[in-house]
Amino acid sequence: MGLRDHYDRHVLPHLLDLAMRAPMASREREQVIPQAQGAVLEIGAGSGLNIPYYSADIDKLYALEPHDKLVRKAEPKAKNTPFEVEFLSLKGEDIPLEDASVDTVVTTWTLCTIPDPPKALQGMYRVLKPGGKLLFVEHGRAPDEHLGRWQDRLTGAWSCIAGGCQLNRRPDDLIAAAGFDIESLETGYLEGPKLLTYHYKGVARRA
Ligand SMILES: C[S@@+](CC[C@H](N)C(=O)[O-])C[C@H]1O[C@@H](n2cnc3c(N)ncnc32)[C@H](O)[C@@H]1O
Repeated sequence: MGLRDHYDRHVLPHLLDLAMRAPMASREREQVIPQAQGAVLEIGAGSGLNIPYYSADIDKLYALEPHDKLVRKAEPKAKNTPFEVEFLSLKGEDIPLEDASVDTVVTTWTLCTIPDPPKALQGMYRVLKPGGKLLFVEHGRAPDEHLGRWQDRLTGAWSCIAGGCQLNRRPDDLIAAAGFDIESLETGYLEGPKLLTYHYKGVARRA
């Protein structure tokens, strides 16, 4: 196993788990995740940090996460939930669910990392029932052109140490291009380094 593979397999899951426990992220989870209803699909569920924030009333959570070590970290959080959690050890580009079968799709800090976000978003659209919602909290390209150019320059190096995370994507454009109606969108800097913390948070619907 090469150094890069070793890092991605054995080091990265611990770093991601640690980084994603930031209080700033917990505050966003607290606001967004309780809005999920019915059958829920979470894309890139990571170490399961959203699980405690789901309403007890959801019918079921499909937690899709391709990194098996992150699934192992998430599993204990799914032990005593009032709803069933089914882990899907797959990529967001390969959602295995039936068409129009879920009420809510959730993505938090994942569209930055998925290698083919248009394909993954097409799948999210496909599995949502008509009128179903996509809840998202993502970081991405900053509106300040100077900062945006630095994000363009640094994204290659950053993605090597951050599991493929791109600094300069526009999640709102990607979501709209997949056919979703963006119902609400909040943008702005959260606390932390500005290259990483310009956020896009909102609700989008399948027509
Ligand atoms: C920054 S972490 C965010 C984890 C989690 N969503 C959270 O809020 O804590 C990015 C996640 O995207 C996952 N990921 C990477 N490639 C993916 C893909 N092709 N499809 C779905 N998820 C992917 C990673 O394994 C990781 O769990």
